[in-house]
Amino acid sequence: MEKLSFVGRSLPRKDALIKAVGTAQYAADRDFAGLLHAAAVRSPRPRIKILSISDAKARLVPGYVTLVTYKDIKGVNKWPVVMQDYPFLPEKEARFAGETVALVVADSARAAKKAAALVELKYQELPFVEDPLQALKKDAVKIHGKDNVFSSFVIKKGSVDKAFANAAFTVEGEFSTNYQVHSYLETQGAIALPEADGGMTVHSSTQCPFYVLDAVAAALALPYHKVKILQTVTGGGFGGKEDVPALVASHAALCAAKTGRPVKLIYGRKEDFQSMSKRHPGWAKVAYAADAKGNLTACRVKYVLDGGAYSTLSAIVLWRGTVHAAGPYKIANVDIQTFAAATNKVPCGAFRGFGQPQICFAQESLIDELAEKAGLDPVQFRLKNLLEPGDKTVTGQKLNSSCGLKELVQAVRKRSGWDKKVNSLSVKGDIATGIGFSAAYYGVGLGAKGRYLDRAGALVNVYKDSSVAVNVGNAEMGQGALTVLAQITAETLNAPYESVRVEEVDSSKVPDSGPTVASRTTLMSGNAIIEAATPIRERVFKTAYDILIAEGADASKPMTAAGGVFSMGGKAVDFKKAVSGCWDRRLKMSEQGWYVAPRTTFKMEDGQGDAYVIYSYSADAAEVEVDLKTGVARVKKIWAAYDVGKIVNPKLAMGQAQGGILQGMSWAMYENLVYKNGIMVNPNFTDYVIATSADKPEYDITFIEKPYAEGPYKAKGMGEVPLIGVAPAVANAIRNACGARVRSVPLLPEKIWKELKKV
Ligand code: MTE
Ligand code: MOS
Repeated sequence: MEKLSFVGRSLPRKDALIKAVGTAQYAADRDFAGLLHAAAVRSPRPRIKILSISDAKARLVPGYVTLVTYKDIKGVNKWPVVMQDYPFLPEKEARFAGETVALVVADSARAAKKAAALVELKYQELPFVEDPLQALKKDAVKIHGKDNVFSSFVIKKGSVDKAFANAAFTVEGEFSTNYQVHSYLETQGAIALPEADGGMTVHSSTQCPFYVLDAVAAALALPYHKVKILQTVTGGGFGGKEDVPALVASHAALCAAKTGRPVKLIYGRKEDFQSMSKRHPGWAKVAYAADAKGNLTACRVKYVLDGGAYSTLSAIVLWRGTVHAAGPYKIANVDIQTFAAATNKVPCGAFRGFGQPQICFAQESLIDELAEKAGLDPVQFRLKNLLEPGDKTVTGQKLNSSCGLKELVQAVRKRSGWDKKVNSLSVKGDIATGIGFSAAYYGVGLGAKGRYLDRAGALVNVYKDSSVAVNVGNAEMGQGALTVLAQITAETLNAPYESVRVEEVDSSKVPDSGPTVASRTTLMSGNAIIEAATPIRERVFKTAYDILIAEGADASKPMTAAGGVFSMGGKAVDFKKAVSGCWDRRLKMSEQGWYVAPRTTFKMEDGQGDAYVIYSYSADAAEVEVDLKTGVARVKKIWAAYDVGKIVNPKLAMGQAQGGILQGMSWAMYENLVYKNGIMVNPNFTDYVIATSADKPEYDITFIEKPYAEGPYKAKGMGEVPLIGVAPAVANAIRNACGARVRSVPLLPEKIWKELKKV
């Protein structure tokens, strides 16, 4: 690999200071002259026919301005997200408790909330469906199409029935997982400002500014060039600010358009819980077959996601789950069928891992059961079957050399002391300790299902004073994009890192770059920046060379560029001087870049072909303590190894790893959102428990960098990878500790206790 100055170093976060000292301007912090405030009026029941909405009482609240309903929508009343079944505001029917049915605008947030509570919604309750498996039955109440199926996919290869008939060992099991709430610190929010020419500018807390653009333009029936989306500093997304900020922003924009004044809409925590997307609850029936030597021969999967009341991103989340459903193994015979079902609950969407953690929990738990049946150590069993470079995935995709999966497994095996621990029963008093393993792969980027959106733009401006401004279409939401992209820019231009500034997204400065999801930012925006910066780099390098010659450098020596300085034959010139020279020569110091993901060949009919352009990989071992009297489990330590290509910033990568592991552990162990009769029971952080830093296990994290030729400086993507394999590793460790096999996440004490009784 070439010698790098900025990429591969733990340079300080660009946004560290403003976030640490509290000067960062989140949506709620922004103020404008004449600002009004909006609040949502929400459906109280799971499914209602709307009879009337009256603001007769709300009008009496001092400061009340107006009521906004679907009648105020100038555009088509369909939020443009994948299937377009979600209206901006419902006309006749609302489909889940918490759905916004109208908005109230007032001159203070308090008045708006008070008035919203006084809006009288007259409705008739309609029959509803709560359970996704029920929803798929023939006699279920229909809320979407003829069968309540938002989407469905298959992967079919070989002859599965035959392989099962001929197998030496088979296993089958049913698994389920519950919701996960994104629990970002900053709730959803947006501010819409009407422009003098009839246009609209929206400040939005979002990971997908171009989805917000699509929605605001549609709701207001405005051409795109009259709508501008400015991403505010975003206080966490984790997938929860992929689709829904478009709805929040559209609501703010409808209020601003009606009143002609700036309108701010900031969600309270409870309404955020009730109405914003979640990780889909999942249900899966998985079966594996192996031959006498322990080689996997077949896999059968039925996988169902609870989509909630509207389709939103369910199809895309389900597709990712489908592709990865058999696990990272060589298997000749595969039959995978998946469904996203409609229910009258909160619409589910993107969450770190995007439909993979649910099915990974099922299949990696079951792989352990199969290893046990085959009389093999779980790690040995995996090593026999795991994908290597040159192998084909279950979709028939041949893997290239950027696949370090087996090395990851060996690294974790060694570092965790697996071979010794796995067979040594350790019980002290009531506390049993055990160790569990998992392996996973992750298709980086949008893949075949999202290929039309898989492109990204960049704008690089080098000013006269040599400061560099970069605009991209992907968003910082805590993961460190501004920093990593600044490092890539600095590396390409040989500009000092301090001189580079990457801005939050402004939709008017760069073309639609798709969503900031699927861990695609480093790869996509990074490559777009390299494309934009390369011609500028050539000009800077040429000018630096000319200056060095003019200053009498020995031209027989090659020029080197490192750390923002150009050197040749004993002379040196810095980036600033070189840039100044470029401006003196009237060279073009501003360029655009555009990167399009390579082609994928996946066919939806049989699920065969290249699904993603490249994969990242992970291996996890978890050490867990179980109290045999109470069933309470505690994760003591996680060893993890990742192949995410070249690491651009080791410290940030470590942060992503630790955060991802903790978030995965939180989902695996604690998070338990409860619905009763179509109503969310615990929409708050008192009754919905998440792991905090006080619960964190000890971490042991290794990176094995398998370079990806197409990646920026050989990087792949890592944001979601660390979450995926945690739950099954923990479940397998619980089983190893005490014999309890829990097939449902969260792995609550009562479930462990119940299984303990059977041991
Ligand atoms: N890390 C922080 N701190 N905050 C976040 O919101 N989102 C995760 C992950 N890590 C997130 C995060 C999710 S869901 C994704 S898809 C990736 O970051 C996106 O970032 P990337 O595209 O830069 O990898
Ligand atoms: Mo991440 S769930 O792809 O935003």
